[in-house]
Amino acid sequence: MSKITLITGASRGLGRNAALSVAKKGGDVVLTYHSRREEADAAVAEIEALGRKAVALQLDTGKVAGFADFATRLRDALRETWGRESFDHLVNNAGHGDFALSADTTEAQFDRLVDVHFKGVFFLTQALLPLLADGGRIVNYSSGLTRVSAPGWGAYAAVKGAIEVLTVYMAKELGARGIAVNTVAPGAIETDFFGGAVRDTPDFNAFFAGMTALGRVGVPDDIGPMVASLLSEDNRWINAQRIEVSGGQGI
Ligand SMILES: NC(=O)c1ccc[n+]([C@@H]2O[C@H](COP(=O)([O-])OP(=O)(O)OC[C@H]3O[C@@H](n4cnc5c(N)ncnc54)[C@H](OP(=O)(O)O)[C@@H]3O)[C@@H](O)[C@H]2O)c1
Repeated sequence: MSKITLITGASRGLGRNAALSVAKKGGDVVLTYHSRREEADAAVAEIEALGRKAVALQLDTGKVAGFADFATRLRDALRETWGRESFDHLVNNAGHGDFALSADTTEAQFDRLVDVHFKGVFFLTQALLPLLADGGRIVNYSSGLTRVSAPGWGAYAAVKGAIEVLTVYMAKELGARGIAVNTVAPGAIETDFFGGAVRDTPDFNAFFAGMTALGRVGVPDDIGPMVASLLSEDNRWINAQRIEVSGGQGI
């Protein structure tokens, strides 16, 4: 039986790449999107063309009030598409970037970062635990910016740091159900993240490339296949770890 991986924010960027990477390894995918339904539908079609099953569901990971309804829609999709009551892997990927010096960060910027990257991950995972199969896996996305500091990313990096702590506690608490929980921390990657800044702004790109041992920033193909591999049986004994995937950024 194919494993089912739920990936939040898989309409584009790292989530989409992880979804396709999982499918290429023979897995099925539930992907969520926030605003870009057409791109999510295109990702579903691409996964189906690989001979795997996929479903796209809308979700704002920053709105806890919507999570019970999302769990119901997920349960319905699992029954309809797979005839199952559970899924196997949860990948908490969805998120946005926000840049402001600590002196200038507004409460609204701060709250949205907390809601999407910390509170949302905490309560979405809580809402989905009854549907996550025993022996399953959770992957939470952090960032290389929790280990190296770059001015302007303080609030963003701090909520990602919270996720790294949460990962260890989740691993401890869910171990009794055989669920492994890890953090993947990408370095700077060329996606739409923060208006495509890493990809489209030469100075920004050069700044991060210059602090990376392998001499460039990352691309989505540097991350998605690693996540698919982490979810495979080969890596079943990795638990409660922060795994940085950055080409050696800031070492
Ligand atoms: N790119 C980097 O340099 C980098 C480095 C380290 C860590 N990360 C982390 O990696 C993750 C993915 O980033 P990315 O580079 O793939 O970004 P991206 O290309 O901008 O894609 C973001 C994805 O998340 C979804 N999303 C954004 N806000 C959401 C919300 N409130 N609720 C639900 N979905 C939401 C988007 O959905 P729609 O398209 O439907 O709007 C999209 O699918 C994030 O957690 C980010 O913090 C990125």
